Amino acid sequence: MSILAGKRILLIIGGGIAAYKTLDLIRRLKERGAGVRAILTKAGGEFVTPLSVSGLTGEKVYMDLFSLTDESEMGHIQLSRDADLLVVAPATADLMARMAQGHANDLASTALLATDKRVLIAPAMNVRMWEHPATRRNLRQLGADGVLTVGPNDGAMACGEFGPGRMAEPMEILAAIEAALAERPGLPAPDGLARLAGPKPLAGKHVLITSGPTHEPIDPVRYIANRSSGKQGHAIAAAAVEAGARVTLVSGPVTLADPPGANVVHVESARDMRAAVEAALPADIAIFAAAVADWRVANSAEEKIKKGKDGPPALALVENPDILATIAKHADKRPPLVVGFAAETEQVIDHARAKLKKKGCDLIVANDVSPATGIMGGDRNTVHLVGPETLETWPDLPKTEVARRLIAALAEKVS
Ligand code: CTP
Repeated sequence: MSILAGKRILLIIGGGIAAYKTLDLIRRLKERGAGVRAILTKAGGEFVTPLSVSGLTGEKVYMDLFSLTDESEMGHIQLSRDADLLVVAPATADLMARMAQGHANDLASTALLATDKRVLIAPAMNVRMWEHPATRRNLRQLGADGVLTVGPNDGAMACGEFGPGRMAEPMEILAAIEAALAERPGLPAPDGLARLAGPKPLAGKHVLITSGPTHEPIDPVRYIANRSSGKQGHAIAAAAVEAGARVTLVSGPVTLADPPGANVVHVESARDMRAAVEAALPADIAIFAAAVADWRVANSAEEKIKKGKDGPPALALVENPDILATIAKHADKRPPLVVGFAAETEQVIDHARAKLKKKGCDLIVANDVSPATGIMGGDRNTVHLVGPETLETWPDLPKTEVARRLIAALAEKVS
C-alpha cells in the first residue's frame, strides 16, 4: 500500500505555466489514496481554473484570505494544520521570496506561515530568475528553515530559453512527497525491533540507502530494466536499522518485502529515485546500492506503441542523472560519508578506484558481477572496499553478512 493512503496534502498552486502539470499531480495523489485540498493563488488562477482543480480534488478550492464563508467553514490556520504535508507546485520566484521573508499577504503565504507541518516546494521559473542571487539567497534561507525542494529540472522552457527552471515532473514530485512523508522521526518501531539488543552504534544517525533496479518507461506498458534484485541494498537497510539508525530506503521495483523499521520510498525511474533521495537529505551516511539505469528513452510514448507497417520503433536513449555523483558533489547537503557500489566484470579494483574519483564518493563497494559469479540476484557476495588509498577484500559471504560488516565499518567512520 502506498504511504500516501489516507494522508492529507495541502497543495498550493502558484502562478506559472507549469500549473497544468499540477493537475496531473493531483490525479496521481488521489489514485494513491491521498486526500488533496488546494489553495490556488491569484496568479495560479490565471493558469488553471478553480473548476478543474476542484474537479480533480473533489473539494472546494481555497482562494481568498478574506472570504467570510471560508473563514467560518475552515480558517486558514486549520487549513494548514489539518494537512500532513504542504506542497507548493509550482513555487514561483515571488512565492519563494515571500516564504523566505515570512510574508502573510494572501491565503497561500498565510497558510505557509501558519503551518506546523513540513513544506515541500517544486520551483518553476525562468532560468535567469532561478540563477539570480536573490533566488539563490531565498532558496538557502528556505533550506535552513527546513523547507524541502524537488527540482527544478533542466530543459527547454515555455519562455524559449534553456536551462534549469522547469518544474519537476508529477512523478518526481510524487516521489519527493512520499520521501517527505516517510521521513517522520519518532515512527513507532515495529514489534520485531524491540528484540534487537546490543550496542546501537548508529543511534541518532540518519542513513539513506538506494536499492534495486530502476524501470525506464518506453510506453505505458513497456520498460527498460536490469537484473538487480535489491537483496544487497535491502540487507544494508536492515543492518542499519539493527544498528539503531533512522533509515530511509529509496527502492526501485523489487519483489522483496520492506525491511521492518525502515522508511521505504518506492520509486520506478532514475529521475524519481533522484528526487526521493534529494528530498530525504540531510543524512549522515548515504549508500548507493541501486543499479540505476544509465539511460532512459528520450521520448517515452504516452500511449502503447502499436506494431505497424513502419517496422520496429527506433528508441533514442538519453543519459539519466547520476544520483551518486549528484549527492557526492552536493553544494550544501553532501552527507559526511557517501558510499557507492561498482558492479564490474573485469579489472574490478582499477575501475572502482576510477569511479571513486569520478563520482566524488568516499568509499566504493566493488564486486565482480560476471555471470559466472552468480552475484546478480544471488544470496552471496564477494566485495572489495575501495577507498582513495585503502583496499579491503572480504571473503565470500551471505549478502546479509556483507551488509552487517559494511554498516559496522561505516559506523566506525562516523562515530
Ligand atoms: N549510480 C547512480 N546513478 C546512476 C548510475 C549509477 O547513483 N545514474 C550509482 C550506483 O548506485 C552505484 C554507482 O553509481 O553506487 C556505480 O554505478 P555503475 O553502474 O557501476 O557505474 P557507472 O556510473 O554506470 O559506470 P560504468 O558504466 O562505467 O560502469
